Amino acid sequence: ATQRTFSIIKPDATKRNLTGKIIDKFESNGLRVVASKRIHMTEDQAKQFYAVHKERPFYGDLVSYMISGPVVVQVLEGENAIAKNREIMGATNPADAAEGTIRKEFAESIEANSVHGSDGEDTAKEEIAFFFDDNEIVG
Ligand code: CMP
Repeated sequence: ATQRTFSIIKPDATKRNLTGKIIDKFESNGLRVVASKRIHMTEDQAKQFYAVHKERPFYGDLVSYMISGPVVVQVLEGENAIAKNREIMGATNPADAAEGTIRKEFAESIEANSVHGSDGEDTAKEEIAFFFDDNEIVG
């Protein structure tokens, strides 16, 4: 079925001017960008967005990293978009990511791993609503 998922192009990638190369990975693999904006997250936004990880040892560093530069938040649409995007991104740790994936090609470390993507239908809905109003999404 057609699904929507939420994506972030992270500060390590915007810093290295990789936005277009990453969007090309989405588009050439059948996903469509139906909403997009470049923002600089506030500390409160980053803390809230990653609240699920707040007990993890990497939480503080993760929040600082996510506000270290601009990000591009997007809604991606397509057949099985959630799982497909996870395939296109590759494993969280670039050392484990498959050939041809975004993280294999571009990520710098397990933290500076270039992209975020929703991990399920419920989180996709929540994450999209966290950054976008309905009228900013044009399918
Ligand atoms: P993301 O998919 O956005 O979800 C949580 C983020 O935490 C992850 O990508 C990484 O950027 C970051 N992170 C840093 N260290 C770790 C770790 N050890 N395990 C998982 N995620 C980590």
